[in-house]
Amino acid sequence: MTQTLENKSVLLVISGGIAAYKSLELIRLIKKAGGAVRCILTKGGEQFVTPLSVSALCEEEAYTDLWSLKDETEMGHIQLTRDADMIVIAPASANLIAQMANGLAQDLASTALLASDKPAIIAPAMNVRMWENPATQANIAKLQEYGHTIIGPSEGDMACGEYGMGRMLEPEEIFAALTSAPQKKTENAAKPLAGKTALVTSGPTFEAIDPVRFIGNRSSGKQGHAIATALQQAGANVTLITGPVSISDPAGVKTVHIETAQEMLKACEDSLPADIAVCAAAVSDWAPKQHEQKIKKRGDASPPHIELNENPDILKTISNHKNRPSVVVGFAAETENLEDNAKAKLTRKGCDMILANLVAQEGAEVFGQDKGHIYCVTAASVDNWQPMSKSAIAKKLTDTIISSLDETETIKSAAE
Ligand code: C5P
Repeated sequence: MTQTLENKSVLLVISGGIAAYKSLELIRLIKKAGGAVRCILTKGGEQFVTPLSVSALCEEEAYTDLWSLKDETEMGHIQLTRDADMIVIAPASANLIAQMANGLAQDLASTALLASDKPAIIAPAMNVRMWENPATQANIAKLQEYGHTIIGPSEGDMACGEYGMGRMLEPEEIFAALTSAPQKKTENAAKPLAGKTALVTSGPTFEAIDPVRFIGNRSSGKQGHAIATALQQAGANVTLITGPVSISDPAGVKTVHIETAQEMLKACEDSLPADIAVCAAAVSDWAPKQHEQKIKKRGDASPPHIELNENPDILKTISNHKNRPSVVVGFAAETENLEDNAKAKLTRKGCDMILANLVAQEGAEVFGQDKGHIYCVTAASVDNWQPMSKSAIAKKLTDTIISSLDETETIKSAAE
């Protein structure tokens, strides 16, 4: 994987969206890393950034018109993608995504992309309803199937005043995806986890006290869902087992919805054998002894006691299962003695890797936030990943899992 973009040429397609202004910063980052950038602006893109500002930053003309004679004589639309080592679309509007997914060639951007046989990195940006629309989700799934990489969107306040999934990733995150992108379109480079199966747990569990009350927690499922997406984008066949969350099911991932720890355990065991397991769910440690009828207030009598039974430890069960996956990853939230505590948890659970969140520091993982500060702890090492977005954590974990599987396979074949 390249850390710089020295001598690489990047084709950046900017389509219509308020996030287009962030792409100017992306151009700057690519140039700073030694890459050359050539830009195509759609008509929508031109409404948000001008060809002049784009070409000033790229230090070459910004391409906008399919029918420009000059462009066709000096730089044909086919040549635009042919010349590029990498293609990135940021922001990718719902419209451009739909055109790509359906093979339409209506303007310079869609025509150039249709004439390309290279995988593109696509950073969607749109209103949350547009993103959640089944038509967009089906288009996204198709693009992934065609070998493109979808990064983001993330959740947050939108320019239209709504809140939700649809914000384009930050320029630094798109840049990180570019520098870690496979450079050649070979089956294995583009999909290093092709043929592997993965199970991921995510979100909270809800444990019923009576028919209307439950014990739960504030887990948003963002981290687990991002991991399912990253593994799927790397080519794995992913089953996501999630407790109740308000975010959408990731595109292209088989998602099983459960409520209780017992149901989560059963769904996990049903998904074995698998090559990879990542337990990111915040599983309730206890379940109340359930009451069949709603518990009533009892006048002046003292409040009822809730009797608790211990829940199964899913991570531990998977780690010690007869069909144990080759790589088992757990999470931990630590406020102190991170290394010792995480190592002790690694041994106690029997897993291969613990992603320990440092919760005492600013910017560290807190339920529902978009960023986390992870230390990746294995029996052999402790690696400080520095604070980064949950999708960047998911991508880094996926890369770590790929290396770990490669090592296991090398050791196995050496022993044979
Ligand atoms: O024991 P603790 O809850 O701190 O461990 C956290 C890790 O164990 C997380 O990966 C979580 O998903 C997993 N876990 C589990 N089943 C439980 C409790 C935790 O899989 N009952």
